[in-house]
Amino acid sequence: MIAKPPVLRPHPIVNRRQFLGGLALTTAALGLPTAPARATQTTPRVLTAGPGEALLLEKGQPLTKIWSYDGVSPGPIIRARQGEEVFVRLKNELPQPTTLHWHGIRIDNAMDGVAGLTQAPVPPGGTFDYRFTVPDAGTFWYHPHNRSWEQVARGLYGLLIVDEAEGWGGASQDIAIVADDWRLGEDGQIDEASFGHMRDWSHAGRLGNTLTLNGKDILDLPVTSGERNRLRHCNTCNARILNLRIEHPNIWVIAEDGQPVTPRELDDGYIALSPGERVDLSMDMTLSPGSIAAITEVTGDQRLVAGHLVYHPSDKLVHPTPSPVPPLTLPANPLPTKLDLAGALAAELLMEGGAMGNMAQAMHRGRMMGIRELVRQGFVWSFNGEAGMTEAPLFTAPRGRTVAIDLRNDTRWPHAIHLHGHHVKVLERNGKPRGSDAWKDTVLVDPLESAKVAFVADNPGKWMIHCHMLEHQAAGMASWFVVEC
Ligand code: C2O
Ligand code: CU
Repeated sequence: MIAKPPVLRPHPIVNRRQFLGGLALTTAALGLPTAPARATQTTPRVLTAGPGEALLLEKGQPLTKIWSYDGVSPGPIIRARQGEEVFVRLKNELPQPTTLHWHGIRIDNAMDGVAGLTQAPVPPGGTFDYRFTVPDAGTFWYHPHNRSWEQVARGLYGLLIVDEAEGWGGASQDIAIVADDWRLGEDGQIDEASFGHMRDWSHAGRLGNTLTLNGKDILDLPVTSGERNRLRHCNTCNARILNLRIEHPNIWVIAEDGQPVTPRELDDGYIALSPGERVDLSMDMTLSPGSIAAITEVTGDQRLVAGHLVYHPSDKLVHPTPSPVPPLTLPANPLPTKLDLAGALAAELLMEGGAMGNMAQAMHRGRMMGIRELVRQGFVWSFNGEAGMTEAPLFTAPRGRTVAIDLRNDTRWPHAIHLHGHHVKVLERNGKPRGSDAWKDTVLVDPLESAKVAFVADNPGKWMIHCHMLEHQAAGMASWFVVEC
């Protein structure tokens, strides 16, 4: 059955949305509540994971029962200033154990929130205090790291925004777009029956059918002519690589995965983001008052309207910037960027398995198993011939050593490889040098392709490396590495 399964057509995003045509524009605020976290905290900010309800469909449709932080999805934005402390008390009111992982933060290992590696999962009714400083300014996010394939799919995620220590005068408005695809049934409820389906797990992962931005069917973002805005965009889908397009000129990428990059203009407004990735954009609002620009999802041939930039219909004409100038570069973060490639510790991460792959067997819990037996236990993917979290780490690096990893995707599916506690530079793709100055925590590797990444292993602890297609992670693509003290 697994040897040659039919190609699963991506579950189409339900095309129930029509272009609004200028009607019914929500001018309500941007919708994401913000929870400030400042300086050294003496009392924690309590964040409750528990059941909630959300209107994910258009008005008049039923509410969807979700899992949420403080009743909402996305959860409240946790906001801190660079170098300061975040102190969050997770309260678990879910029917399952959970944790909080702070994706992309170069964090104290004990606060990394990985169930079974850095902490025991927090049982229903329990609490856990997360207390850490945030070294880097940028756009990060939080989500459970226990049964994340189910918990994230039910709505558990939120942004962690770290403001630049010295501030940054580059934007007049700070906007966030958190994108998710939900798999809903005809009744508008989360399709629970398909949780754990091997068909998803061995193919792309759980793809949803209903796209929301900030939990909304259509997200309308108010903007003003002449302003320069910062837009933070995060893909929290379990498995879907999103291709958003902001149908607006003068948009620049200023950061990727929280780390500043040399600003570059977006090609026609297209942004491809795999699960877990973030991008920060600088947008010059150069259209005239009253304009509306669509935000669409353009995977395949569809053009699905997911939101709009809605210009304030000012009566006094605000003069749009005549010739946009490049945005201000963000201040650098204190990342260790000096790679010692000559002295690097070399590691390899070979990805195998999945539908239409050629994995016949793999090690699992110390025993070689054939594919049938693996599938019975829910495993269809492997890293270096091992399916699932291994007893031994992928590598152990002395603190401060440069590590170079060859990511080799020998499967028919794309994988978004995420490392905890560090950011990597992509040196090569398919053997060809790549001149990007981005420092990534999540790197997409396309089917049958490879990427060479490197980083300075300067953060001691046990760190996960896994595919951020959450079903792939659960079905075998999970490992870890050690950075010595
Ligand atoms: Cu965003 Cu290990 O996860
Ligand atoms: Cu994957």
